[in-house]
Amino acid sequence: QVPEDTIAPPTKKRKVEPSIRSGERHGPLGEHISLPSTALATQIKESAEGTGIKRKFISVTRPQDVEDARLLLPIVAEEQPIMEAILLNKVVVICGETGSGKTTQVPQFLYEAGFGTPGSDNPGMIGITQPRRVAAMSMASRVAHELSLTSSKVSYQIRYDATVSPETSIKFMTDGVLLRELATDFLLKKYSVIIIDEAHERSMNTDILIGVLSRVIKLREQMWSEKKDDIKPLRLIIMSATLRVTDFAENTTLFSTPPPIINVPARQHPVTTHFSRRTASDYVSEAIRKASKIHARLPSGGILIFLTGQNEISGVCRKLEARYSRKAIEERQRKRKPVPREDEYGSIPLPKVDPTHADVEAEDVDLGVEDLAIDVDGDVADIDVDMDALDSDGETETNEELGIDAEESETPMHIVPLYALLPSDKQMRVFEPPPSGSRLVVVSTNVAETSLTIPGIRYVIDCGRAKERRYDVTNGIQTFQVSWISKASASQRAGRAGRTGPGHCYRLYSSALYENYFDQFSQPEILRMPIEGVVLQMKSMHIDSVVNFPFPTPPDRHNLRKAETTLTHLGALKPAIGGVIGQAEITEELGGRCHCSRCRPRILEDEALVDEESDAEEPEDLSHLTSEDVRAKEARKIRRKAFFESQALHSSLGNNTSDVFRILSVVGAYEYAGGGHKFCVEHFVRPKAMEEIHKLRVQIDNIVQANFPDLDTKFSKNLQPPNKNPAVRKDIVEKNSSGGRQYTTAKGIPYKAMGIAEDVFIHPSSVLANEAPPEYVVFLETVRTSRVWIKGAASTLPAIIYQEGHNHIRRNVDTSCLALEPGGWELPPIKQKDTN
Ligand code: CDP
Ligand code: MG
Repeated sequence: QVPEDTIAPPTKKRKVEPSIRSGERHGPLGEHISLPSTALATQIKESAEGTGIKRKFISVTRPQDVEDARLLLPIVAEEQPIMEAILLNKVVVICGETGSGKTTQVPQFLYEAGFGTPGSDNPGMIGITQPRRVAAMSMASRVAHELSLTSSKVSYQIRYDATVSPETSIKFMTDGVLLRELATDFLLKKYSVIIIDEAHERSMNTDILIGVLSRVIKLREQMWSEKKDDIKPLRLIIMSATLRVTDFAENTTLFSTPPPIINVPARQHPVTTHFSRRTASDYVSEAIRKASKIHARLPSGGILIFLTGQNEISGVCRKLEARYSRKAIEERQRKRKPVPREDEYGSIPLPKVDPTHADVEAEDVDLGVEDLAIDVDGDVADIDVDMDALDSDGETETNEELGIDAEESETPMHIVPLYALLPSDKQMRVFEPPPSGSRLVVVSTNVAETSLTIPGIRYVIDCGRAKERRYDVTNGIQTFQVSWISKASASQRAGRAGRTGPGHCYRLYSSALYENYFDQFSQPEILRMPIEGVVLQMKSMHIDSVVNFPFPTPPDRHNLRKAETTLTHLGALKPAIGGVIGQAEITEELGGRCHCSRCRPRILEDEALVDEESDAEEPEDLSHLTSEDVRAKEARKIRRKAFFESQALHSSLGNNTSDVFRILSVVGAYEYAGGGHKFCVEHFVRPKAMEEIHKLRVQIDNIVQANFPDLDTKFSKNLQPPNKNPAVRKDIVEKNSSGGRQYTTAKGIPYKAMGIAEDVFIHPSSVLANEAPPEYVVFLETVRTSRVWIKGAASTLPAIIYQEGHNHIRRNVDTSCLALEPGGWELPPIKQKDTN
């Protein structure tokens, strides 16, 4: 019998034995840290004592398949240098290709090292932020599975839902959740380490978080050295899928000592990239055609199609289902008649060939792998094609919708959509293996670009576009625009094909377009967005000097000044003495309420429009109530009038003068009915939207109740006719003399949105769209598509606009989002337009 300790059982957990080394061994800024793995227990002990770090190992058991899969993840080999860097530095940057294992493994490294476990040196939780809810949820369940732990031990928290418990060790959350936690606990005492994931996306929340955390870390360290409190210093790990991290790592306002950057070597198989000869403007049909062709001609392997929004995705899924679902194929096989003999029916006509189509075919063959192959990293230097022939003017190729009949495959497709508004259980379907004998086809927004690694993808079809929230600073109108992605994004998308083996990426755009129109990287969101919300958020965290805030990329000073001015006008900020920019303080009254209720300080300038097409994850406020997405898909099929008539409660309230009240009444009815699917089906509303609005309403109610117990929050509980509650009033628009639903915004109001020079129209989704157009309407938001639409509209009366006897209107704009008493901000008189 061999003594037990001489044989290492094959499945035994690999323990981390890091060699703790002194800090100066770490290379200067940007240097790849790769320390030799010569760990000695004594060395650990000594250096650990030297640096004040003691380690405690938690033993974990992983399922065998997980153990096997982990061995293939590049980051697992880097556990030691990563843990060393983390233990010796307060801030560490980790870069690694999507799919290298950052999100799932780094929390596990920390957990095994004792982070998040009471009694260890770092008992505070491990917090990981994600820009998307779907990622927070799926990653929490994945890590719980990998560690064989419960969902309360490895939990998630998103705005409407949480599995967090007192025993939570690892907590995944959206970045919005952490920002709000900072408002109540600036020192983040519950945490020992925070991981900011997907930092390359440069979302506004990520940027603010990194700025704030750079200060929290200093404070926690200071407190620890001064022995002020018993909490240990906090650590920060910034994770990025690209190497473009200089804004974080080389920014000395952010971190005085540049944090080490760890590059996880990519384990990426080669991906051959194929540009289209022409840029298809009908990229949706083109994507279907491409997918059909891949399916018919190329060996097994999943197909991932990148499109821009829900409607496109649903459409493509429907069309592919109709042709390639198992059911459709079986149907076709059943129907297929035996081929008639020539002598029975005379000659069989040759199949018609569409000349344009044939052309496209030839083109694809000729300009395939060899001619248009480029590296994943976008090196197009050697393309030997006539550049003049490559157009970028969006000329359309005529394509058959579903590809080539003759090539129809008998293999079924397993078609899975993926976008933010998809119910979460359906979102999880992408991780399930497709039924045997079928090919996985995922049709996704850019959620699949870096957040989620879908297993088994070998082919990527990239439309080259993404829906981006744009905000026109001069007129206050925000839009969701389909715009070209950046070269970095295109490369990320291509990379998705090379996880399992060599892959192919088909770009539905020309290389000329890519070269001339694609930016290298996308711009940080903070530079594209209005920043009132940001300013207020920071003020509420008592960061009074916003100008000096360590933003990774500081916004324009001018915009900061503007934001403060607006907030001061709204009464949310007190002007600073001497008018120093960035020094105004939040007012307890409105500013505090605004912030604590998480409502927008100013609706028109809102940053959180919820568009059914968008990927916006966290509808921030009541404007959610006005968004069209409460309606079920079926509702769009029947006539709108019938839809509204179907809302019994709505009609019983007789409320057809305000969109907000209409939706509140529907939600009220939903709550009254005790929720449930049946109600939604009967009333043509989307269950997910109902549930979210309901939760949001309860949440806002609770917050307001908790912070302002004296306040009457009846608004959200008992419905009142809108003319008694000017709270939902927004902006004043004046009826256009031309009649109809076209309105001109009121003039003479020193309110930024009044810069809207164009006429605006009542959005077709509005209750007002079915009524005789009221003379005056107020609205919550503007959206530009074909024209400028106003959403969240309510009819109003001049009597409400004008206070009796006073020639000014009461300022109720800001209170509208709060649903509190109207504020008292005065406005100069509106010049009444001739309404005849
Ligand atoms: O964060 P990063 O992109 O570096 O990688 P990750 O999300 O940690 O993914 C590591 C691996 O885990 C990938 O191969 C994923 O496909 C896999 N994974 C999975 O199988 N199921 C999940 N729910 C999440 C990840
Ligand atoms: Mg990740």
